[in-house]
Amino acid sequence: MQKTFTLRQFQPGDLESVMSINQVCLPENYAPIFFIDLHERSPATFIVAEEDGRLAGYAMCRIETGFSSFSRTRLTKKGHVVSIAVLPEHRRKGLGSRLVKKVLMAMELYKAKECFLEVRLSNHQAVGMYNRLGFSEIRIKRKYYADGEAAFMMAKKLQ
Ligand SMILES: CC(C)(COP(=O)(O)OP(=O)(O)OC[C@H]1O[C@@H](n2cnc3c(N)ncnc32)[C@H](O)[C@@H]1OP(=O)(O)O)[C@@H](O)C(=O)NCCC(=O)NCCS
Repeated sequence: MQKTFTLRQFQPGDLESVMSINQVCLPENYAPIFFIDLHERSPATFIVAEEDGRLAGYAMCRIETGFSSFSRTRLTKKGHVVSIAVLPEHRRKGLGSRLVKKVLMAMELYKAKECFLEVRLSNHQAVGMYNRLGFSEIRIKRKYYADGEAAFMMAKKLQ
């Protein structure tokens, strides 16, 4: 049966489930305070996907001020997708795309003008998902990850 997931803001009670999804799905893991800190800074850009009280995925972001991804001489407000993951058994149902669309809308509430993220060069599924959502590969960050792999920095203009 097709499941219907609700997307809603993260709540502190979700911490254990979100950390567990993060550990199952990604090699980049963080201490609890990292998740809580991101939530406190911009609660609307920390979204979870839930069904029947169980979480299947999350996206968490930070609102930053810095040089534009599109013009490296212009300062701008931008949303950074710090981490996003969907449990393997719930992938390819559009949840990842829904999570990204939701955090993009939330970034606009914080007046962010663009969104950026880093993704492994080998992560074709994620790169494909971001391309379909309007992100472009801006540049490569060499040795970005702890294991030495490079990242694409991808970005999209908001509004
Ligand atoms: C990247 C990730 C979040 C995508 O989550 P998802 O819920 O599978 O995303 P979507 O369903 O929106 O789209 C992903 C793929 O499924 C496809 N898809 C979506 N709905 C589908 C459906 N009903 N039937 C078939 N395929 C579907 C999409 O077209 C896309 O296809 P692709 O593999 O050809 O590129 C997930 O793969 C993940 O958690 N990966 C591990 C963590 C990770 O890499 N995070 C990103 C780091 S930057």
